[in-house]
Amino acid sequence: MKKNSLTRRDFVRLGAGAAAFGAAVPLSGITILEPSSLWASPRPIPPSDTVRFGIIGTGVEGCSLLRSTLPIAGVECVAAADLYDSRHIAAKEALGGKEIFTTREYRRILDRQDIQAVIVATPDHWHRRLVVEAAEAKKDVYCEKPMSHSVADGLAMVEAVRKNKRMCTVGSQRVSSILYRKAKEIWDSGKLGMVDTILAAWDRNTDSGAWVYPIAPDASEKTIDWNTWLGDAPKIPYDETRFFRWRCYKDYGAGLAGDLFVHLLSGIHFITGTSQPPQRALSTGGLYHYKDGREFPDLLWTMYDYPNFQLVLRCNHNNNEEGEFFGFYGKKGTLIIRGSTLTFKPQGPYQLPEDYSVFGWPAKLRSEYYAQWSKDHPAPEPGKFKMEQDTEVYSPPQGYSDTTDHLANFFESVRTRQPVVEDEVYGHHAALGCHMANYSYENKTIAHWDADAKKIKG
Ligand SMILES: NC(=O)c1ccc[n+]([C@@H]2O[C@H](COP(=O)([O-])OP(=O)(O)OC[C@H]3O[C@@H](n4cnc5c(N)ncnc54)[C@H](O)[C@@H]3O)[C@@H](O)[C@H]2O)c1
Repeated sequence: MKKNSLTRRDFVRLGAGAAAFGAAVPLSGITILEPSSLWASPRPIPPSDTVRFGIIGTGVEGCSLLRSTLPIAGVECVAAADLYDSRHIAAKEALGGKEIFTTREYRRILDRQDIQAVIVATPDHWHRRLVVEAAEAKKDVYCEKPMSHSVADGLAMVEAVRKNKRMCTVGSQRVSSILYRKAKEIWDSGKLGMVDTILAAWDRNTDSGAWVYPIAPDASEKTIDWNTWLGDAPKIPYDETRFFRWRCYKDYGAGLAGDLFVHLLSGIHFITGTSQPPQRALSTGGLYHYKDGREFPDLLWTMYDYPNFQLVLRCNHNNNEEGEFFGFYGKKGTLIIRGSTLTFKPQGPYQLPEDYSVFGWPAKLRSEYYAQWSKDHPAPEPGKFKMEQDTEVYSPPQGYSDTTDHLANFFESVRTRQPVVEDEVYGHHAALGCHMANYSYENKTIAHWDADAKKIKG
């Protein structure tokens, strides 16, 4: 970790999050975090140790993941499967024009002996089948978030990965972020004191943010294997809106909870060292603007109980003032993550005499109280005065990618068999939090996680 003194230009470069605190925070207080550069590989990787991987699903996220693998040493994508032909071209382009094997049939990747690992970046309703089949085919798996589309899916995925002794990473990349690592360091240091309240939000205000993606002009039943895409979902005629905007529909996605809560929950579990799902969840919200036939609200609030703190999450599609926000409110300090800026602010109680209730006392008693207080709290000797701790502000360097770090962590584990940062149990717990939020919203009841029955109950 390096402390840099910043020029004004650097400060402006840090972006809106840092600027928002600009008035209160001296420039010298900003620390640019140094990437761990895991992906740059601390040691040369011999060609025999290169991890050859395939990818299933090369849509928006699949292509983004492929691009993010490019700086990682010792990995090579050799095959891609997608049900939409144009995405075979998109996958090759994401790899900088590399000629790789492409197919509509994912089994042709899982059946290859020269492939050690697969990335699963399909819509959520396909995650279970692909992770289970990949594990059974002895492939390690990087599965996009939310890990599961249902509680039963998550349980089956955990079992398959464990039974087949596979490495599995779930794709909430913030868990590998150097910013979150710093937040965890602050949490673990005890500087926040006891924390009973955590608030987090992920707000958007664009059609794209609300999943109203354009329909590609070449999309048709000829270019897309629609019947296979439906998987175990009810069979319905070709519907390109559902293909491109699947997040809006329960048969394929999990709405705001599955898309965004999962990132917040994964990050909070990481920072707080939580290794269990929430105990209870209570949601409310509504569909206020995007009345386009979608089956999820465009505003969702959920209050969660954990053993040692309360968590409130909110995501919406209709105002983005808060953006991506976390607040950890402790007895001794507050930790805020806003976008890519982390701020730690110390706060009271400081060593101060009572200055409120004693004004209901007679003056004599009050002055005796102050005299005694001064005796009990002598002023520090000259030169031994300790300043209150300063506010601290951290940010990753420009161009930093937590996705590359997350993928690098996965590939390193494929090679070394050391644990990944976000395994299948971790991903399962975060996804359970999403399913509990939706359960509570849909059933207008408090959702309880019954760990013995392995079920969400009302
Ligand atoms: N980690 C993140 O920040 C992040 C961001 C976006 C999306 N995601 C996740 O990534 C996943 C994919 O999202 P997306 O936005 O890329 O969706 P998308 O619709 O753009 O792409 C999904 C692709 O999967 C293909 N597909 C579906 N079933 C398949 C099958 N059986 N075999 C082969 N290909 C199949 C589809 O044809 C499609 O091209 C989702 O789980 C989503 O939640 C994660």
